[in-house]
Amino acid sequence: MIYFKMAWLVFCNILAFYILFNTIYICFLSGVPAIPSSKKTLNELEKIIKKYKNKDKFVFVDLGCGTGKLLFMVAKKFPNAKFIGVEINPFIAMYCNLKKFLFVRKNICFIRGNIFKVNIKNLKPDFIYLYLGEKISIDISEKLKSDIGRNICIISNKFELNQLDLIDVVDYNNLINGPLRIYKNRR
Ligand SMILES: C[S@@+](CC[C@H](N)C(=O)[O-])C[C@H]1O[C@@H](n2cnc3c(N)ncnc32)[C@H](O)[C@@H]1O
Repeated sequence: MIYFKMAWLVFCNILAFYILFNTIYICFLSGVPAIPSSKKTLNELEKIIKKYKNKDKFVFVDLGCGTGKLLFMVAKKFPNAKFIGVEINPFIAMYCNLKKFLFVRKNICFIRGNIFKVNIKNLKPDFIYLYLGEKISIDISEKLKSDIGRNICIISNKFELNQLDLIDVVDYNNLINGPLRIYKNRR
């Protein structure tokens, strides 16, 4: 019984530390909370992928993938495609890799890194998905403008990417998420 109590105490302390560290890390370093895209967003995203994909095997990159919830859900719908998540938070990235290992998802991979430092071009994306924040979206649009090719379909949940060319807006009455803005880099 004493061992069980000790184990429980250790577990609670680790969990408390994890939550505290996570909160501080997300608020002060990335400035973007780990709120996942909603199920409604996923449904709209699926339609957008079907509309814009021109080949069966494509690469979908989620910049700031959080817990990977969205990637796991979309990967199920498109088993022939490759899904890559980039996440700055080491604890969340660790959780993603654990989930990938437990659910044996071979078409998903996670990169622990900063989206401003990762070489996005090397990932050879056909789709780039973002659900970040207002300021960070403006900053990343600058990088995307100089780093990526013209045919990549960039989808931003809620926030504008002012350096790219807006080609479509999918508004689906979602209070937390959306609208989904679709961009290309035509400059
Ligand atoms: C709102 S969540 C979105 C999660 C996922 N894309 C989705 O739609 O379900 C944003 C995530 O971006 C991550 N993030 C913020 N800044 C980042 C950066 N510079 N590099 C990589 N990830 C970042 C945060 O840690 C957070 O987990």
